[in-house]
Amino acid sequence: MANDYTKIIKMAIKARKNSYSPYSSFKVGACLKDINGNLYTGCNIENAAFSPTNCAERTAFFKAVSEGIKEFECIAITGGSSVIKGYCPPCGVCRQVMMEFCNPEVFKIILAKSENDYKEILLKDLLPLGFGKMDLSIK
Ligand code: THU
Repeated sequence: MANDYTKIIKMAIKARKNSYSPYSSFKVGACLKDINGNLYTGCNIENAAFSPTNCAERTAFFKAVSEGIKEFECIAITGGSSVIKGYCPPCGVCRQVMMEFCNPEVFKIILAKSENDYKEILLKDLLPLGFGKMDLSIK
């Protein structure tokens, strides 16, 4: 079924369980889908020195890119402290990483509280006038 996000939302919720977040106790899970339907999950991974912390979205992107995958359709994101209460929008750094590998006109970001409660947003709307490789005249 087109635009059935049940599976990627479920996988993002599952990935959230692996969140390593002893400093914030804020657990985030993501599931990234490539253009062939392959899925890459990620969780946030914190660090005692704070700045090496990696967000769930970037974990998913870096897993995929490190396997040679660079064309993506959408990402589901879910996050919260103990229970998921609200939507978890991606941070600015993650939006910029999305901008590197995704067409902002078509790449979809699914902000999910559950399989039945989610919002779908295009990258262009989360990162208007985003800086990308075309600004460096690189395709
Ligand atoms: N975090 C993510 O994993 N993704 C986001 O989009 C927002 C923030 C993580 C980073 C940090 O481990 C915790 O959530 C609190 O900021």
